[in-house]
Amino acid sequence: MEWIWGYIFFSIITVLFPFLHFRWRTLLYNVRQQLPPGPRGWPVFGSMLELGNEPHKTLMDLKQKYGPVVWLKLGSINTMVILSAKAAGEFFRNHDMAFAERSVTEVMKSHGYDKGSLALAPYGTYWRIMKRIMTVQMLVNKRITETVEVRRKCIDDLIEWIENREFSSSEGIHVAKFVFLASFNMLGKLVLSRELVDPKSEKGTEFFAAMVGLMECSGHQNIVDVFPWLRWLDPQGLRRKMDRGLGKTIEIVSGFLKERFEERERTGEKKKDFLEVLLEYEGKGKDEPEKISDQELILIILEIFLAGSETTSSSIEWAMTELLCNPEAMDKVKTELSEVLGDTKKFEENDIDNHKYLQAVVKETLRLHPPIPFLVPRKAIQDTEFVGYHIPKGTQVFVNTWAIGRDPECWKDPLDFKPERFLDLNIEYRGQNFEFIPFGAGRRICAGIPLAHRMLHLVLGALLSEFDWEIDVSVLDEALDTRDRMGVTVRKLKPLKAIPKTKNRTL
Ligand code: HEM
Repeated sequence: MEWIWGYIFFSIITVLFPFLHFRWRTLLYNVRQQLPPGPRGWPVFGSMLELGNEPHKTLMDLKQKYGPVVWLKLGSINTMVILSAKAAGEFFRNHDMAFAERSVTEVMKSHGYDKGSLALAPYGTYWRIMKRIMTVQMLVNKRITETVEVRRKCIDDLIEWIENREFSSSEGIHVAKFVFLASFNMLGKLVLSRELVDPKSEKGTEFFAAMVGLMECSGHQNIVDVFPWLRWLDPQGLRRKMDRGLGKTIEIVSGFLKERFEERERTGEKKKDFLEVLLEYEGKGKDEPEKISDQELILIILEIFLAGSETTSSSIEWAMTELLCNPEAMDKVKTELSEVLGDTKKFEENDIDNHKYLQAVVKETLRLHPPIPFLVPRKAIQDTEFVGYHIPKGTQVFVNTWAIGRDPECWKDPLDFKPERFLDLNIEYRGQNFEFIPFGAGRRICAGIPLAHRMLHLVLGALLSEFDWEIDVSVLDEALDTRDRMGVTVRKLKPLKAIPKTKNRTL
C-alpha cells in the first residue's frame, strides 16, 4: 500500500509545484517590480483562457476591479492593457517613444513581412522613410484629390452592380462583401492603376483571391503568439499556410512590377499611382538607402490593401447596421442627403463637408465599433515607468479603444447610437482627443486617415443616397444582432444582409 501513498504524494507535488512556483514568482515579481494590478491567471496559461471570443469586451470589464491600467500574462507574454482616455493620454503624450515598437504575431514574420510593413516595422530609419513617403507623398489630401475620379468610377460600378444584381432570395445583399470589393478596387486603382475585381461578374483576380487568403490566415488566433517556444511545431499550421500564401502573393506582385518596368521602358510614360511614387524614391538623408528594394516595394503594396479594405468594409457594415437599428438616425441622415443633393445630384467627395450629420454617423460608428479594437499592439522598447508602475522591456500594450469609446466617464449614454453627440462636440479622430482614437495616436497613428475619411463618407453617402434600405423579416434577428467577432478586424458576428430599393430619381 505504501507505494500508493508515495504515488499520490508525488502526483500532488508534481501538480502543485509549478502552480505554487508560478504564484510565488508572480507575487514576488509584482511586489518587487510594481507592476499594474490585474488578474492572477493560471499557471502557464496566464489569463489567456479567460479572454473568450470577444477579448476587447472581457478586458473592458477588468477596469471596474483593477482600474484603467491592467497587467496580465497571456501565456508567457507580459501584457499591459490601457482602458481609459486619461491613461491613453498619458501613454501617447508622455511615453509614445518608449512604446514605439510593435508586438508582431508569428504569421506576420513570414517572408520578412514584419520588416517591410510600415505598420509592423521596428521603430527606426526604414519606418521613418516609409511613414514620410506615405503621409507626405501618397496619402496627403492634395494627392488624394487628384484621384477623385478613380473613386467615383468605383462607386458607380458598385451602384450598378447592386442595381443589376438579381436576388435569388428575399434576404438582400451581403453589405460588407460588396463594400469590400469596391474598396479593394479603389485601392487597386490608387496603388497599381489596376481594376482587381470585376464588379459585374463578382470575380476577383488571382491577386484578390490571394489577398483574401492572407487576411483570413492573419486573423486566426495562433497559440504560438502566447507560447513562442511552440514556434518550431507550428501546431495549427498557420505559419506554413502563411508562408505558402504570402509566397504566392509576392510572386503575383513581382509580375505586376515586371510589367510596369517593361511598360515604362516601352512608352517612357510614368503613371500617377502610388507604385510610381515608391519607384521614384531616392534616398538622400543620412542612413537612407538609395532606392526602395523590390521586396520592400511589394510588401508596402500588400500593406495598403491589408490596412485599407477590411477596415473600410467592416466600418460601413456597422454604420448601416446601426442606422437600420435606429430609424430616427436613418431618417435624419437621409433628410440631410436629400436636402443637400436634391433629387438629381450624386454624392461626391466634395459634398462631405456639407454633410455634418453623415460625418457624425461615421464618427459614432467608429466610437462604438472601431475595427481595430486594441490598435496595432505596441511594445516597450525599454524598461519604463508608466503612471507609477514599472513596465518591463518587451511588454506588449493593448490600448483598448473599443472600451474607451464606451467608457461612461467620457460618454453620456455610452452604449446608445447617438450621432447627435458629435454635432455638439469638437472631437476628431486625428489622435488628439484620447476618448476617441479609432485610428490610434502618437507616432504610429494610422497613415491612411485622409484616404479612409474620404472612402468611408463616399461609400456610405452613396449607399444611402442611391438606395432605401430594408431588412427582410427572415433575417431581422441576425441583422439587429450587434455581437461581433475578432479576425483581422472586429466584424459583425452575423453579416448584415439588407435589401436595396432603388430610389425614384429624375436624372
Ligand atoms: C476605417 C479605416 C481605417 C481604420 C479604422 C484604421 C485604423 C488604424 C489603426 C488603429 C492603426 C494603428 C495605430 C496605432 O497603433 O496607434 C493603423 C495603422 C496604420 N494604418 Fe490604418 N486604418 C484605416 C484605414 C487605413 C488605410 C485606408 C490605410 C492606407 C491606405 C491605412 C494604413 C495604415 C498604416 C500604414 C498604419 C501603420 C502606421 C504606423 O505604424 O506608423 N489605414 N490604422
